[in-house]
Amino acid sequence: MKIILCGFGVVAQSLVKLFESRKDELYAKYGLKPRLIAVFDSKGSAVDQSGLKFNKLVEIKKKYGTVKNYSKENNAMTGFEILKNFDADVLIETTASNYKDAEPGMTHITTAMKKGMHVISVNKGPLALAFPSLMELATYNQVMFKFSGTVGGGTPILDYAKNSLSGEKITSFAGILNGTTNYILSNMATGLSFEEALKDAKDKGYVEADESLDLDGLDAAAKLVILANWIMGMKVTMPDIKCTGIRKVTIEDIKKAEKNNSVLKLVASCDNELVVSPKEIPKEDPLGVNGTLNAIAFTSEHSGTQTIIGKGAGGTETASSILRDLLDIRQEIAKK
Ligand code: HSE
Repeated sequence: MKIILCGFGVVAQSLVKLFESRKDELYAKYGLKPRLIAVFDSKGSAVDQSGLKFNKLVEIKKKYGTVKNYSKENNAMTGFEILKNFDADVLIETTASNYKDAEPGMTHITTAMKKGMHVISVNKGPLALAFPSLMELATYNQVMFKFSGTVGGGTPILDYAKNSLSGEKITSFAGILNGTTNYILSNMATGLSFEEALKDAKDKGYVEADESLDLDGLDAAAKLVILANWIMGMKVTMPDIKCTGIRKVTIEDIKKAEKNNSVLKLVASCDNELVVSPKEIPKEDPLGVNGTLNAIAFTSEHSGTQTIIGKGAGGTETASSILRDLLDIRQEIAKK
């Protein structure tokens, strides 16, 4: 299966390492032989139509901080140029989420779809800003569009709601979908101030390069958009979310929750409206997870409320969700 990989950050590198370490098993068990023909990062590109060597890519990236030094040929191409000039079966889009214009991910995804390539995205920007039209574009071009890793990292939240609960009518859901703010609020509950808890989260490398994405609720709102479209069949984008982050949460708010035998969490909910906001959750509710964990509770018409808990981020975890999507695509293609 010919693959173009956009971006070569932590998740993409983890994916390439997974391809290498599970090479034999992927072929023997699933008939999947990933042939990565092009990859790029912010400084350059690596292209080899016969397949880039996974180990060499990771080593070059580690040594030079870019894949540009992999080869002297085709080493300064942009993602758009790569997608225009080379054909592949699947685009895997892992560049950084951007909620202003969703670029460059949006151009990568639309270019690939128009060329008839299937797309896997862990980049949330394009989905948050244009979910309905991207689905239409995928349908129009008869390509598969997968994005398991955009919500919950390696925890299969979307798959659970879409497939395990198929036939059910999900009436509402509420989730803690941003690990960083959950870590900060969990630490504030142990007595740290907002500033102290934020510094600790930054020291641990949890906070996004643009801290606003976590602190102002944009990351959680993007995930809520994806869930609302995919699970509830709504046609919504970022402006449809009422979004409040955690910057104004005080120790007093945390203490008030404690008095109510509750914990204060940044909750993304879909009930009568779509809201991201700090909210008290009763201590005995399984949704009230601590640290960087994510959790989501789906309430359905007949099967009650079920809560899924898991790690919502991490390179290997998110890479494993890409692999799931790739295997799905492989199986669908094999059926044809
Ligand atoms: N910044 C995100 C979080 C990363 O803290 O959950 C995963 O989307």
